[in-house]
Amino acid sequence: MKITSLGYLRVESPDVKEWATFGPEVLGLAVSEDLAGQPGTVSLTNDDRPGRLQVSEGPHNRVQCVGWELPTAGDLDDAVATLEQAGTTVEWGTAQECRAARVRKLVRFTDPAGFTHELFYGQLVVPGSFRPGRGTTGFVTGGQGLGHIVLVVPDLAESLDFFCAVLGFRVSDEIDFAGSTLVFLHVNPRHHSLAIMAVPGMRGMHHLMLQVEDVDDVGMAHDLCLDRDIPVALTLGRHTNDRMLSFYIRSPSGFEVEYGWGAETVDDSDQWAVTHMQSTSIWGHRPGNAPAPGCMEPVEPAAS
Ligand SMILES: [Fe+2]
Repeated sequence: MKITSLGYLRVESPDVKEWATFGPEVLGLAVSEDLAGQPGTVSLTNDDRPGRLQVSEGPHNRVQCVGWELPTAGDLDDAVATLEQAGTTVEWGTAQECRAARVRKLVRFTDPAGFTHELFYGQLVVPGSFRPGRGTTGFVTGGQGLGHIVLVVPDLAESLDFFCAVLGFRVSDEIDFAGSTLVFLHVNPRHHSLAIMAVPGMRGMHHLMLQVEDVDDVGMAHDLCLDRDIPVALTLGRHTNDRMLSFYIRSPSGFEVEYGWGAETVDDSDQWAVTHMQSTSIWGHRPGNAPAPGCMEPVEPAAS
């Protein structure tokens, strides 16, 4: 399967209104027109593709859908065949759902952990439209997509098998962390578009990473968080694997936003060899003053 990038993310949250200021003023995102038609929805983006991040009103903090880009209509048809061959039920999005997602066509399915994903082709681009909510150099997107997400799954081996064997993700490297293993997966030169780790009996999102163009954008965002008393989940630090310099902010929806710069890319050739590390950071990334994370839900045990 030819997934090329993380295209969009939709989340549900009781605190959606806070995103109208948190998104543009703290993260520097642009506000996009809301096409979802649900009252209280906030649509945001970090480039010329409107609505890459959508937060909708709902009773819980949870991931509604992760959207993955495919190059062409033919690739989408091939992807459906691959999913169905693997025994995964696939549903085509209606014309209205495609319009709301700003894509030509999309399909929807559920992964073994219970997350809903959409595969799409033909995302809307409005060249020159990105108007950041505050002064910033901009974000690293393009062929590397929106950023990366880290998902918590109940069964690492089961999810890893699905993402790699069915969806075609490639392993970048692994980190032993807090008695578990974080596995980093790429679909383009971004070191990882997705990382997964297991917490038995739980499903959720740990963080969304947004990568800025200039190291000063990280510093200025950090100053802004200190000035506004915005809870910092992890202090400034540098990651061991992709060497990203970043800090983590608790978003209004329980998950964290990693705000980073300077990640190394993956040379996706025969020369890439998977390594493993024993810590996530070279320095920093120490616990900050944010409350405990809250974008997790218990997973129903599978019927036997
Ligand atoms: Fe990250």
